[in-house]
Amino acid sequence: MSGIPFDQREGVIWLDGEFVEWSQAQLHVLTHGLHYASTVYEGERVYNGKIFKLREHSERLYRSAQLMDFVIPYELEELEAASLELLQRNKVKDGYVRPVAWRGSEMISTSARFNRVHLAIACWQWPSYFDPAARMTGIRLKTASWRRPPPNSSPFEAKASGHYQIATLSKHDAENSGYHDALMLDWRGQVAEATSANVFFIKGRTLHTPLPDCFLNGITRQTVTELAKALDYQVVERTIWPTELGDFDECFLTGTAAEITPVQSIDEWRYVPGDACRDFIAAYTSTVNA
Ligand SMILES: Cc1ncc(COP(=O)(O)O)c(C=O)c1O
Repeated sequence: MSGIPFDQREGVIWLDGEFVEWSQAQLHVLTHGLHYASTVYEGERVYNGKIFKLREHSERLYRSAQLMDFVIPYELEELEAASLELLQRNKVKDGYVRPVAWRGSEMISTSARFNRVHLAIACWQWPSYFDPAARMTGIRLKTASWRRPPPNSSPFEAKASGHYQIATLSKHDAENSGYHDALMLDWRGQVAEATSANVFFIKGRTLHTPLPDCFLNGITRQTVTELAKALDYQVVERTIWPTELGDFDECFLTGTAAEITPVQSIDEWRYVPGDACRDFIAAYTSTVNA
C-alpha cells in the first residue's frame, strides 16, 4: 500500500449538507449501506478545476439511487454546487470527486424503506497520468472466473456498491497472479468489461465493443464513441466472444479513472498499442482539457 490512508487525509468533506473536517466525516457501524450494499456512488475527474461531464455523472448518481429504490434528499444542482465549492476549499485543480449516497442506520433488516438517505462528497488531488510514452506500454489482463450477472439479477445500470463485490475478487485474483486487471465475461460467456472500465478492441479503423446490456455503459465509453466519428473510426457494438480475442490489433480500456488505457495482453493474446491508442489518447486528452 502507498500513500496516506484515505481516512487520515486532510481537508473537508461535504456530508449531509455541511462541510466537515475530513476526520469528522463518519457514520455508524449499523449503517444499512454497509451491511446490505444499499449504496450508490460516482467517480468524477477534475481537469484544470473543472469536473468533466459533471451533469452526466450527477444524473447517473440520481438514476442509480432510483434504481436502488431510494431518493437522494438534495437537488441535483445543490450536489453540483457543493462539489465545485469543495474543490475550491480543498484546492483541488486536477483530481477526483467521489459523491456517495447510502441508506442510514434506522433499521437493520432487508427492508429499509424508512431509513434516512445520506449523501457525502469527497475530493482529492489526483493528476491525470499524462506521460503518453509510459501509458503506451499497455497493461496486462487476466480473464476472471466471476461473471457479470444477467440483467434480471441486478440493476446493472446503477453504479451501485454491490456490483463491485465480484470486481474486487476478480481484481485481487488478477493482481495475485501478476496481472494489472481482470477482463470479465458475462453470464453467457461473452466479453463484458474490465473490473471498473469498459473495453474496446481495434481492427484496422474499426472499434469493436460489447453491447452494454448487462454492465455499465460508461460515460467515457460514450465519449470515445463520439470521438470516433471525428477521428474517422467506425464503432461496432456487438457480441464479442473470447474466441475472437486473437483477431484484433489493439485494445484499450475506457473509464473516468482509467481514461484511455492501452492493453498489451489478455491471457495469451497480445496487442501492440499503436495508432488507434495514440489517436484516442490524444483526442480524449484535448477534450477533457478543453
Ligand atoms: C464497472 C465499471 N464499468 C465501467 C466503468 C466506466 O464508467 P465511466 O466511463 O462512466 O467512468 C466504470 C467506472 O465507473 C465501472 O466501475
